[in-house]
Amino acid sequence: MKIKSKILLIAGSDSSGGAGIQADIKTVTSLGSYAMTAITAITSQNTTGVKSIVSVNSREVSKQIEFTAKDIKPDAIKIGMLHSKDVINSVIKSLKMIKAKKIILDPVMVAKGGKKLINDPAIKILKKNLISKVDLITPNIPEAEVLTNSKISNIHDVISAGKHLIKLGVKNVLIKGGHLNSKNVQDVFINKKEIKIFKNKKINTKNSHGTGCTLSSAITTYFSCGKTLKKSCEMAIKYVNHSLRTQPNLGKGHGPINHLNSIQIKKIFR
Ligand SMILES: Nc1ncnc2c1ncn2[C@@H]1O[C@H](COP(=O)(O)OP(=O)(O)OP(=O)(O)O)[C@@H](O)[C@H]1O
Ligand SMILES: [Mg+2]
Repeated sequence: MKIKSKILLIAGSDSSGGAGIQADIKTVTSLGSYAMTAITAITSQNTTGVKSIVSVNSREVSKQIEFTAKDIKPDAIKIGMLHSKDVINSVIKSLKMIKAKKIILDPVMVAKGGKKLINDPAIKILKKNLISKVDLITPNIPEAEVLTNSKISNIHDVISAGKHLIKLGVKNVLIKGGHLNSKNVQDVFINKKEIKIFKNKKINTKNSHGTGCTLSSAITTYFSCGKTLKKSCEMAIKYVNHSLRTQPNLGKGHGPINHLNSIQIKKIFR
């Protein structure tokens, strides 16, 4: 199989393999592209919870980005969790240095259960210096609430939050609907010109660990291969949906989804 594109993934490691950089690598690989990494943190976790988190310092994160990209130039970049102000600033500097194009940011700030994952100074810098520099951001509902200082309870609130983010200088936003209480999940794509709602039946499973990481990596892969951002979101949502439907039921807690399902989708790139 010929490699379709090269992707640089900037994210944390999840030892259980369901989310983080492991989910990112599996997604990029199963969609036919080549994955490179800059690891921002190491977590010890399994499907029942997180045992510990060790951060990688900002200089080391920058070195991974710059030294890797100097040799193999990435066609697109996916950014996941950036835990501190220093790491965010270093990543911005390094992306500028390598003249990065096609950047997708999953602004990981709030976990499924509502727990804040990064501190307030980091959130402030992310909002001030990073969200307007990338091509697309993919917040979940609690993250969109933090970024817009608003409460989101229904689809109208989601659309208002999206428009608010565009006014703040964000180029494109996909607000993910997994957290709203309804029988359908609606992901909303918004830019200056359009609003597109992707609607799917909510799948009733406890095994949805890593849906967010998987989605943003899949979007990055499709985008790197020449699809438009809207089309990339549509295809990536389909990929996550198939991955949820075929989840392998692993572990005693919140298990992973099935990253290998793309073999059945057989989407043609370019
Ligand atoms: N139960 C579900 N049924 C169908 N699709 C879902 C379900 N839960 C999440 N999704 C889809 O998964 C993708 C990720 O959305 P979600 O809101 O879970 O992101 P997230 O909270 O960032 O995930 P994570 O907890 O992995 O960071 C979206 O495309 C969403 O529509
Ligand atoms: Mg997430």
